[in-house]
Amino acid sequence: MSLTPEDLDAVCGLVSDLCGIYLDGSKEYLIEGRLADLLKRHNCASYAELARKARLNAAPTLKDDVINAITTNETLWFRDNSPFEALKNKMFPEIIDARAGSVFPRRIRVWSAASSTGQEAYSIAMTFADIVPEIASWDLQIFGTDISPAAVEKAKKGEYSPLEIGRGLDQKHLSSYFIKSGDNWKVCDVIRSKCRFEVGNLLKPLPSLGKFDIIFCRNVAIYFTPPDRVKMFNAIADLLNPGGWLFVGSGESLMALGPDWSPKQHCRAICYQPKGGLTYAH
Ligand SMILES: C[S@@+](CC[C@H](N)C(=O)[O-])C[C@H]1O[C@@H](n2cnc3c(N)ncnc32)[C@H](O)[C@@H]1O
Repeated sequence: MSLTPEDLDAVCGLVSDLCGIYLDGSKEYLIEGRLADLLKRHNCASYAELARKARLNAAPTLKDDVINAITTNETLWFRDNSPFEALKNKMFPEIIDARAGSVFPRRIRVWSAASSTGQEAYSIAMTFADIVPEIASWDLQIFGTDISPAAVEKAKKGEYSPLEIGRGLDQKHLSSYFIKSGDNWKVCDVIRSKCRFEVGNLLKPLPSLGKFDIIFCRNVAIYFTPPDRVKMFNAIADLLNPGGWLFVGSGESLMALGPDWSPKQHCRAICYQPKGGLTYAH
């Protein structure tokens, strides 16, 4: 069924209100590909009717179903590699040094914003464990948030098919940090215990997660309008500890945000310190 202008307006408006993802007529193929099943399941005669039903909460999970269907949850282990090299060689060692003698010498807080199905957060935890084998005794807190309830559920479970494991995970990390679960692989308890996942919309006031030493916000801003991107990154900057680092996707640039956002390069990874300075000790 092709979309009328009324369908397009209704669906694009709904998706924008639900998750800030900007769609227009050029994405008609994507809308049809992702929402056609929902249309059938909910006996809707048109996409406009589907959007109306979702707005009216006509079926209990319809809004979540739309979010799960329309979001692109593409992710992989150690995606782009260089941010994890930077964590291993620079950020984690420097934070560990700076914290020694502070009130919470073993506390490190990281946020994987738009964590999808969890690979990014678990990759961060594995990177820490690679340099600190006694990770269990560290108060490493890695929060993953994503707007897709289905992605968050999967992240919480921490169980992945061989196909998913094959997307970026090397043999060393697989044998060190996963256990076999039937045909699948499950993240081991010590790594899972450092990671917590919650549903959250990056364009709405965020749940009080506290401040972070490191924030990964990668490959999500591309779906938003330029003003929404600015709004989101400014809100994220407020959640960074002074001297904390922000990583964005490899193809993303924050030049439009102004001089406070000049990029820095470590281990070939681009990162930002929008609050400036290296003077953290919390
Ligand atoms: C392409 S994935 C990126 C995952 C991971 N950060 C990475 O780089 O591998 C984009 C994720 O952003 C999430 N997302 C989209 N809009 C969002 C919003 N408004 N708030 C939070 N997450 C959102 C999607 O559900 C999806 O899981």
